[in-house]
Amino acid sequence: MTELNFMDLSRQYEGIKEEIRQAFDDVCSQTAFVGGPFVEKFEDEFSSFVGARHTIGVSNGTDALFLACKALGIGPGDEVIVPANTFIASAWGPIHAGADVIFSDCQKDTWEIDPKSVEDCLTKKTKAIVGVHLYGQPFDVDAIKSIAYENELYLIEDCAQAHCAMYKGRPVGTFGDASGFSFYPGKNLGAYGDAGAVVTNNDDIDSAIRILRNQGSHIRYHHEKVGYNMRLDGIQAAILSVKLKYLRSWTRRRQDIAASYDREITNGHIIKQKRPAYVESVHHLYVVCVDDRDSFIKHMKENGVLCGIHYPIPCHLQSAMKKEGIRDCPNAEFQSEHCVSLPMFPELTDVEVNRVIDLCNSY
Ligand SMILES: Cc1ncc(COP(=O)(O)O)c(C=O)c1O
Repeated sequence: MTELNFMDLSRQYEGIKEEIRQAFDDVCSQTAFVGGPFVEKFEDEFSSFVGARHTIGVSNGTDALFLACKALGIGPGDEVIVPANTFIASAWGPIHAGADVIFSDCQKDTWEIDPKSVEDCLTKKTKAIVGVHLYGQPFDVDAIKSIAYENELYLIEDCAQAHCAMYKGRPVGTFGDASGFSFYPGKNLGAYGDAGAVVTNNDDIDSAIRILRNQGSHIRYHHEKVGYNMRLDGIQAAILSVKLKYLRSWTRRRQDIAASYDREITNGHIIKQKRPAYVESVHHLYVVCVDDRDSFIKHMKENGVLCGIHYPIPCHLQSAMKKEGIRDCPNAEFQSEHCVSLPMFPELTDVEVNRVIDLCNSY
């Protein structure tokens, strides 16, 4: 019995190997290793792809969110609302910028940030909301945006898992003041190392981040701000340009697989993520909830299918977070105890998809 992992990046590489090697060679021949023409080319391509004015390539998705916070002037004394049900990096940006993070709960059925809980988290110190399009599914942007608007808050979109996902027909990453993308290898658009980007329609935020990522400098050896070394590498940019051409077809395949799972997994013990009519998910992960997670994972594993858990501890309960004043987030807590990620990547064959479905139904 061949074992099926919930993600396998090697199959994708097999299909694009020659182009990737050529891209690597081009960067090395031109010695354009940090910043430079390959980064600028990818930034232009990604802006067109997302439909935004600016893309600033940076070192990774965590730094993208941090730079967005810095460019928006978020710092000590400010509070930023972040959902508890997300990968921890959604919270590091505001924390590294010096702000306090207040964790809001997720909705019971979509598992995305809950606008009602966000309202409960508001104080006089609130400066921004980080909305996460978790698992590749857009959150309720209109509801979160109107809270931000009414309370004069910034909205930062965390699009790390949601490249080309749509909310009411418009791509995510174009709603907030600034948006962070991750190109971590396992993401829907993944580099061959760490990489990320900030996307924004705001010219001032764009130029602030360009300076911050590059040692606080716009002109060589002139440092106008306290800066960081958070630039995108040429090799990663060239690889991302190759892969971007395939992203729409890879996404369609993810959507087809998810549609099969949605339709054909009929076991009543398996709860699926609710998909409101306004979302077009890109299914970075296909997450379900089961009562007895250990026995479900054991059943799948014994039959050669490995599952993931995203995420076993919600952010507000992580040891790194301050304990005082942390509010309960019951939906996020439930989710963390019951969630399981089924295999999801574009190169899954129909036979493998059916195998996962049959195993889910025989549980
Ligand atoms: C929701 C979310 N936000 C932020 C990040 C951080 O991205 P990176 O790993 O590129 O720093 C990730 C990915 O790891 C993520 O899944």
